[in-house]
Amino acid sequence: MLHDPTDPHPPPEPTRSRAGAAKAVAAALPVLASCSGPQSTFTAAGSESESILHLFYVMLAGASVIWLFVIGLSLYAVRSTPARDGARIGVRLIVWGGCVFPTVVLALLLYWGLEKMPGYRRPADGPRIAVSGERFWWRVAYDVEGEPGIVKSLPTGGVESANEIWIPVGRRTEILLGSPDVIHSFWVPALAGKTDMIPGRVNRIVLEPLVAGVYNGVCAEFCGDAHAQMGLRVVAVPEAEYAAHVAAMAEPAAVVSGRGVDAFLGNGCAACHTVRGTPAAGSVGPDLTHVASRLTLGAGLLENNRENLTAFIRATDHVKPGVQMPAFGMLPDDDIAVIANWLGELR
Ligand code: CUA
Repeated sequence: MLHDPTDPHPPPEPTRSRAGAAKAVAAALPVLASCSGPQSTFTAAGSESESILHLFYVMLAGASVIWLFVIGLSLYAVRSTPARDGARIGVRLIVWGGCVFPTVVLALLLYWGLEKMPGYRRPADGPRIAVSGERFWWRVAYDVEGEPGIVKSLPTGGVESANEIWIPVGRRTEILLGSPDVIHSFWVPALAGKTDMIPGRVNRIVLEPLVAGVYNGVCAEFCGDAHAQMGLRVVAVPEAEYAAHVAAMAEPAAVVSGRGVDAFLGNGCAACHTVRGTPAAGSVGPDLTHVASRLTLGAGLLENNRENLTAFIRATDHVKPGVQMPAFGMLPDDDIAVIANWLGELR
């Protein structure tokens, strides 16, 4: 099943009045509701996230039992007297309750946690995708060649896209993670844990979706102004659909001449963006060859439509404070409309 990728889960208004207990409960409902959905660790849809969720439930149950036990002991200690329980009751409680019990519980937990780890390191058997954390978006390259070199940069080549990663269901896809400047963290809560993207090295994470769907990802490491607006979508589809998607991404742009292309090139957009099939070959910003086929604009921020494209070009900083792309509000409205219309045709 496909989730709605634009589901915003708005946070509740803060409630302050004492009389508003019912209000507070009502206000908490949307928060509880956000315990599910395409960006929740509770909607485990990957092999790793399932394992993490299981670990969480067992730890929650264990912690609840231990909490009750410790509260019981405290009550017992308050009422205990040497006459009733013997002079050495204090020492016995400290040795058994304070030393032996936590040592055994923590040792078991450590063993169980470590024992799960080899499962997360099982080798990939699916495609290999390189994802670079940019400010503040995700550069995605399918079918990359070679291993990270001595300089520890991501392998290049392949088919480039942005802010959306398609992966096959039931296969273990290896994601190579890097960054050119600042540290980000790659996190798709419904599929797996977090992995840092660190300049000068390449980290790896394997995503193994068990259910087809669109899952939201976020940057989980403060990286600058637009950190909170650095989202992505992971689209898990059957293998044949994945292959067809990558093949479509490898094609040049659908429309490679006309007024839109002229305005795009004439206003300097090509200094930063690539549109394959046209002379635009910039590499600073996202590849726009098939921008209209993506689910979102601005890295998970906006629905992908003409209106939002126009608004983004005109006032990037307004839509996404901290974005590296300058606002092009000084262009005539007609130029912006022509460019947005053309980009809207690049499916
Ligand atoms: Cu990228 Cu926070």
